Amino acid sequence: MEVPFIDFREQYQIIKEEIDVGLKSVFERGAFILGQEEKDFELDFAKYCDASYGIGVNSGTDALYLSLSCIGVGPGDEVILPSFTFIATALCVSYTGATPVFVDIEEETYNIDPEKFKEAITDKTKAVIPVHLYGQPANMNEIVASARDKNITVIEDAAQAHGATYNGKKVGSLGDIACFSFYPTKSLGAFGDGGMIITNNAEVNDKAFMLRDYGRKDSYDHVIKGFNSRLDTVQAVVLAAKLKRLDDWNKKCNELALMYFDLLEDLDDVFSPRIKADRTHVFQTFAVRVKNRDKVLEAMKKKGIGVLVHYPIPVHLQVAYAELGYKKGDIPVSEKISGEILSLPMFPHMKKEQVEYVCGALREILI
Ligand SMILES: Cc1ncc(COP(=O)(O)O)c(C=O)c1O
Repeated sequence: MEVPFIDFREQYQIIKEEIDVGLKSVFERGAFILGQEEKDFELDFAKYCDASYGIGVNSGTDALYLSLSCIGVGPGDEVILPSFTFIATALCVSYTGATPVFVDIEEETYNIDPEKFKEAITDKTKAVIPVHLYGQPANMNEIVASARDKNITVIEDAAQAHGATYNGKKVGSLGDIACFSFYPTKSLGAFGDGGMIITNNAEVNDKAFMLRDYGRKDSYDHVIKGFNSRLDTVQAVVLAAKLKRLDDWNKKCNELALMYFDLLEDLDDVFSPRIKADRTHVFQTFAVRVKNRDKVLEAMKKKGIGVLVHYPIPVHLQVAYAELGYKKGDIPVSEKISGEILSLPMFPHMKKEQVEYVCGALREILI
């Protein structure tokens, strides 16, 4: 049996008719840039996140970069973030000229350790970016409390956690600003690149709207130096159709995760994800930890299973960040997890037999 890491073919069949109609309408009207569908989707997704404003942009990376720009982060400032994340979380800080300050994660959730965040705060700290890694929210109560004390802006990197909740509240409404990616593999994925900034702050909303569209207030009235970073109307049509089904698809991923938990429970060498009682997980990624990860990875691939590593090198040890002078051992939990973590196949329409095959293969390899 072949089990791909991800397969959205069935998902496409479910939304096909709806998006065919929506796209035809966009094409016939030629409303490609900031068309009505894009504006509607901004409102719908903000509402879904229990927030007031949504600003569609062209990627999750730009959502983060424009958010930092909105609050005036720049050279001389520091932004704290976990080292165990996708590099985009850090790159957006670098784009502003500010310095990313990497801290460690909690071993249980793989999310930023609130104590390490607190210890890293200096007079230069302008913002913190907790990442809701793999689909489970970070420990937001503690992070927000420490940030409020010091006037630090909290920007959620929610690229992997559309629909997840923390103490009953949706991701996207837990800090000051939240950033989503609609990269195709995300829980809510476009048919290309896309992203969104979500906030309750009217000032951030106004500025982000201008920043993503050449800094204009009106057609050719440019009040700040902005960028070209808009969400395509075509992508909004796809995303709107998927948003209606997001909760159902997240539920399906949770059911598959339960199956994984059951089938892997007796394997001492496999550490399955832990879900904190005060949160829900959306399992955008189902990542386990195993000893001899690289050997297991190769053996799984030989058995026809799509497996990946998110992420093999923590960002503080990436060559791209060599200038910051971090060395091995500086951020130990992130370094340890990056050597053990292994992402197994996970997508809403994955079949029971596929989960069984993956778990059977893992069992054979490990025993
Ligand atoms: C945690 C995290 N942050 C940021 C991004 C950047 O999003 P995008 O690829 O849409 O630029 C991604 C995904 O790619 C991500 O997983």
